[in-house]
Amino acid sequence: MAKILDGKKLARAIKTDVKKQVKTLNSIGVDVGLALLLVGANPASVQYFQATIRTCKKVRITAYEFRLPLTVSVNEILNAVHSINEDERIHGLLILMPLPSHINARRVINAVSPEKDVDGLGAISVGRLAADESTFQLFASSPEIVKQHSHFMHSIWSFLPCTPFGVMRLLEHHKVSLKGKHAAVIGKSLAVGKPLATMLLAKEATVSICHRETSNLSHYTQHADILCTATGKAGLIRGSMVKKGSVIVDIGISIAKNGSITGDVDFESVSKQASMITPVPGGVGPVTIAMLLENTVRSAQRNELFKSPLMI
Ligand SMILES: NC(=O)c1ccc[n+]([C@@H]2O[C@H](COP(=O)([O-])OP(=O)(O)OC[C@H]3O[C@@H](n4cnc5c(N)ncnc54)[C@H](OP(=O)(O)O)[C@@H]3O)[C@@H](O)[C@H]2O)c1
Repeated sequence: MAKILDGKKLARAIKTDVKKQVKTLNSIGVDVGLALLLVGANPASVQYFQATIRTCKKVRITAYEFRLPLTVSVNEILNAVHSINEDERIHGLLILMPLPSHINARRVINAVSPEKDVDGLGAISVGRLAADESTFQLFASSPEIVKQHSHFMHSIWSFLPCTPFGVMRLLEHHKVSLKGKHAAVIGKSLAVGKPLATMLLAKEATVSICHRETSNLSHYTQHADILCTATGKAGLIRGSMVKKGSVIVDIGISIAKNGSITGDVDFESVSKQASMITPVPGGVGPVTIAMLLENTVRSAQRNELFKSPLMI
């Protein structure tokens, strides 16, 4: 039976560390602030909005709530984003997705200034990840690599997107070696699949990216040492589709009619083949919020460094 990659436990450890760093910032008079912008009342977004606010309270990050009606114009949203960009109390901005269909979401996301883009989805953040200018965040636990890249610290103001960053943290925490391994990522969205593939590549895995048009999906999954799936299709991955001894990361979330939450993976059959597996819920989800808070505190720290760059 596979070892369970417990996201709740790791998230607790990350939050404890965040709380300590917030306390240090408080001691020099800095209050860490995260803005949350919710348009309408999509139930999944409301749930994430409220859960993030609760978690902010626990780590003493001040949450600034911005709620706009479903009928809001793109201009009104942009005004809210611009005022958050200019607000010195706020170090990060999370925009809850999806935005209503009459709003150009990319236009809004790209309006977030890169130094506050703690969700890492703006074009600058995405570009810096692709250009390996922010992947040093992945090596934070290796002092040598951080030292090598320290020249980036005050010039780069972008962050890694929270869900794929959380997946990497979970793999690192459980000492899953990536170098030279075959990793298959199912899903190619801007928020999850694509950045995750880039991060795995940065760690020198050989990466296959699969999607709806991939023919013979099983061919890729059966050869994957690490299989990460983010489709939202419950039961897509069955035991016969995975390699014996592989590591399975289930990012997908599907809510059944009875309200129960499942991932993309048929846990029962896949856990018999895998060596490690994330549960849903309780796997990647809790780590995602923890990474958002970690990015926010990092943004506040960089802001302070920027005020006195000679400290680096
Ligand atoms: N745990 C967390 O913290 C967390 C955070 C974010 C998202 N999620 C969950 O992760 C899932 C993906 O989120 P997302 O934002 O990336 O969604 P998305 O934008 O809808 O992307 C889904 C991806 O899955 C691919 N796909 C769908 N059906 C497939 C199939 N049958 N075979 C192969 N590929 C298939 C799609 O391929 P095409 O591009 O070809 O259409 C697309 O690339 C959702 O369930 C979401 O709720 C979880």
